[in-house]
Amino acid sequence: MSTLHIFDHPLICHKITMMRDKNTTTKDFRELAEEITLLMAYEATRNLPLKEVEIETPICKTVCKTVAGRSIGVVPILRAGLGMVEGIVRLVPNAKVGHIGLYRDPETHEPVEYYCKLPVDAQDRTILVVDPMLATGGSASAAIQFLKDRGCKDIKLMNLIAAPEGVARVQKDHPDVDIYVASLDERLNDHAYIVPGLGDAGDRLFGTK
Ligand code: PRP
Ligand code: URA
Repeated sequence: MSTLHIFDHPLICHKITMMRDKNTTTKDFRELAEEITLLMAYEATRNLPLKEVEIETPICKTVCKTVAGRSIGVVPILRAGLGMVEGIVRLVPNAKVGHIGLYRDPETHEPVEYYCKLPVDAQDRTILVVDPMLATGGSASAAIQFLKDRGCKDIKLMNLIAAPEGVARVQKDHPDVDIYVASLDERLNDHAYIVPGLGDAGDRLFGTK
């Protein structure tokens, strides 16, 4: 069964509140998205396996620990997911980045695919799908299915803000995928926007409205 992890660290809560504020500028919104993602990635990678390696310090030889196991791939859902890539890549510089282009049809709210480009070894990596908003869950669920269709088996989903409806949809469609969020909000409104949410994440990130 998929687990929902809610990161309620005080700094994450504080920064999410700043992102929600409609008076926050595009520049600040972008920086906050990156900072929150970095803090979330730090928490989400807490249980990464370690292995022992022998190194030599200026003083002596010693055995220390380094991260073992699968390499990481980050897959933002275009376009708002792009705002979360840098925060992860700053922590995990060797991560490779794939892209899945989806937009929500404004009438049906169903996701429409327009782009997909993944690392060649995506199926051997732990894939972090990132998108600031998990609303109906249609986009995330479709993106995860594209990844599974291309052989990916170890997939996690990271969102800044989720609605209960989106969490339920992804957990139903993909019970093997854990979900990491900074906030679980109340509900969706009639336009399938998250309440209270932060509005349209893509527009606020890129200043398109
Ligand atoms: C937003 C958001 C998610 C999707 C969430 O993207 O970034 O991808 O909506 O909604 P859902 O859970 O109901 O599918 P949008 O379609 O606005 O595209 P954009 O990122 O290009 O702005
Ligand atoms: N997409 C957004 O950008 N915001 C929402 O609240 C829902 C979908």
